[in-house]
Amino acid sequence: MPESKRIVVVTGGSRGIGRAVCLRFARDDARIIFVHYDPDDLKANETLELLDKMGAEAQAEKLDVSSFEAVEEFFREVVREFGRVDVLVNNAGITRDTLLMRMSAEQWDEVLTVNLRSVFNCTKAVMRSMIKERGGRIINISSLVGQIGNSGQANYAASKAGILGFTKSVAKELATRDITVNAVAPGFIDTEMTEKLPAKAKEAFLAQIPMGRIGRPDEVAEAVYWLASEGATYITGQVIHVNGGLYM
Ligand SMILES: NC(=O)c1ccc[n+]([C@@H]2O[C@H](COP(=O)([O-])OP(=O)(O)OC[C@H]3O[C@@H](n4cnc5c(N)ncnc54)[C@H](O)[C@@H]3O)[C@@H](O)[C@H]2O)c1
Repeated sequence: MPESKRIVVVTGGSRGIGRAVCLRFARDDARIIFVHYDPDDLKANETLELLDKMGAEAQAEKLDVSSFEAVEEFFREVVREFGRVDVLVNNAGITRDTLLMRMSAEQWDEVLTVNLRSVFNCTKAVMRSMIKERGGRIINISSLVGQIGNSGQANYAASKAGILGFTKSVAKELATRDITVNAVAPGFIDTEMTEKLPAKAKEAFLAQIPMGRIGRPDEVAEAVYWLASEGATYITGQVIHVNGGLYM
């Protein structure tokens, strides 16, 4: 029997924005499959518990999305088990911040591989199934920094700008198949990623946000959810900014 619920795959779903995305989709009758690459399963299990409390069918796997082979194998399994993937949210991401003067080639490669190559890996792995099903939604999490740059984040900004070029190109390639490909560019959102920022950097960001506050993961999740909804059938290749007015 083919699964009747929407099959939603979220990368980096153990915490932060990815967790909020899983929880938002779980409010519908969707099947949530998320991956993470935390050293332990603590946060992933917390997300699974929250999803379980909502009555959602969910499962999690530890998977390095930067590995082409591992990602291919993972999606082959998902399609074998559930028949297809309806929604892919490419959310996994990391930072290795430092000024370019001090940035090693390893720090550059690590961020580009986890943040950008992963989007290539996962999109390639689902597109055949989506083409076969004649429909699908792909939402890539970019960043404000991919558009305006940030000192100390040349690697991260390049990866997030790369996601935008990728999104628009693939949106054109898949448009006739009724597969939409869009990006969400969050500003400054309250997660473990931004917890690490020095207090001074946080204050400087905050001072520039017209809405005068840091964003919440669920506020990003709403935009992601909407792009995968019936309300967004004619929207592709777009970038939705969720940043409290920090960049217009
Ligand atoms: N927090 C912000 O202010 C902000 C702003 C703009 C964009 N973003 C982007 O949003 C996304 C989520 O950020 P967050 O703040 O929730 O981060 P986070 O650090 O709280 O969570 C990151 C998630 O990605 C997963 N991950 C990391 N490396 C992985 C890998 N190799 N394979 C699989 N999963 C991996 C982690 O396990 C975790 O689930 C990222 O792409 C980030 O760049 C965040």
